Amino acid sequence: MLAKKRILLVIGGGIAAYKCLELIRRLKERGAKVRAILTTAAQEFVTPLSVGAITGERVFTDLFDLTAEHDIGHIRLSREADLVVVAPATADLIAKMANGFADDLASTALIATDKPVLIAPAMNPRMWSHPATRRNVARLKEDGVLTVGPNSGAMAERDEFGAGRMAEPMEILGAIEEMLSPQQQILKGRRVLVTSGPTHEPIDPVRFIANRSSGKQGHAIAAAARAAGAEVVLVSGPAEVADPQGVRTLHVESARDMMAAVEENLPVDCAIFAAAVADWRVADASDQKIKKDAGGAPTLHLVENPDILASIARHHTLRPRLVVGFAAETEQVVAHAKAKRERKGCDWIVANDVSPATGIMGGDLNTVHLVSAAGVEDWPSASKAEVARRLVARIAAALGEAGR
Ligand SMILES: Cc1cc2nc3c(=O)[nH]c(=O)nc-3n(C[C@H](O)[C@H](O)[C@H](O)COP(=O)(O)O)c2cc1C
Repeated sequence: MLAKKRILLVIGGGIAAYKCLELIRRLKERGAKVRAILTTAAQEFVTPLSVGAITGERVFTDLFDLTAEHDIGHIRLSREADLVVVAPATADLIAKMANGFADDLASTALIATDKPVLIAPAMNPRMWSHPATRRNVARLKEDGVLTVGPNSGAMAERDEFGAGRMAEPMEILGAIEEMLSPQQQILKGRRVLVTSGPTHEPIDPVRFIANRSSGKQGHAIAAAARAAGAEVVLVSGPAEVADPQGVRTLHVESARDMMAAVEENLPVDCAIFAAAVADWRVADASDQKIKKDAGGAPTLHLVENPDILASIARHHTLRPRLVVGFAAETEQVVAHAKAKRERKGCDWIVANDVSPATGIMGGDLNTVHLVSAAGVEDWPSASKAEVARRLVARIAAALGEAGR
């Protein structure tokens, strides 16, 4: 997919620099040609020797390097690439890029380039959330720079947790592939509906019952369907992630709101129900905040919520041609998914194991099984974006087979 593509990789001085070696290997495996610039700080974390051994190319470190300047020059270096990738993008490099600094080879190449730029920020959560970094990242986005990550999770520093971990090499690779491979409009002319995120079921005006769904997988599917040319409606519960670009996103809170929004947006060619819809709601949610001293702990009486997947899959007049459900299970994943497919009357179930040990709920990776009438496919672990692209490709193929 990346055969003969030329990547200029700018490696900044962060702990995550070691992950670049893996990224370079994966890029090379796919046929890309990688040239690397290491900042001075980056050389404290990885050596030009190891980067050069893996790229199989000369490594560039100095702006005032007569041999390099004679050979290729910093301007050519930045232009003779299809894409410039900055990973790890340190707070410092991001600040320099946002403000147009050019006081070393990395920053000079970055301001001299006329090619698309992708950054993979990596830093301590406090550095990432600092107003200066927020401003700089916003400015870079306005300038058309694309970002991948950062992810949330444990930091290299002990006891630190939060957003700032560099995206994993496979995720960066996915973003690179997305930028460099012309997106085929395999869903052009199709209408796709996606649900995503958790639902919030009110107990009273200030409290609710929720679940740990982040919305990452559903939103990634909506984005992938859009990138494939579909007209996409995303019905989203209160998700942690931003609305995907180019997708009409309807924000809902409860399962009943989600059901109504889904019904209002039929007919569609394909509906993908990735939301983690609450099975139950409180029967008699209070109009006023329940007071602690009103006679001990309240008893919540739960009633079943509408089953969105089953009602749409069994809809008499407006059933989409392809109905895809999700099954989040913590045990007997495939067996439960098979049973769910039969019970709900949908075409496919995408099943995943959401036991806490897998880190899938809220995480960036997913390992899924596609359960259909034809059997069960076990997909390898991949980023949620990659799972989304693969699912979209399958949907396009299935809709194509069924005829337009
Ligand atoms: C052990 C160590 C780890 C560091 N990790 C990071 C990091 O992950 N992200 C970051 O933005 N800065 C990090 N820094 C600070 C940068 O190395 C420093 O800001 C440096 O000037 C960045 O230079 P560069 O942007 O030219 O690579 C770290 C510093 C040290 C000493």
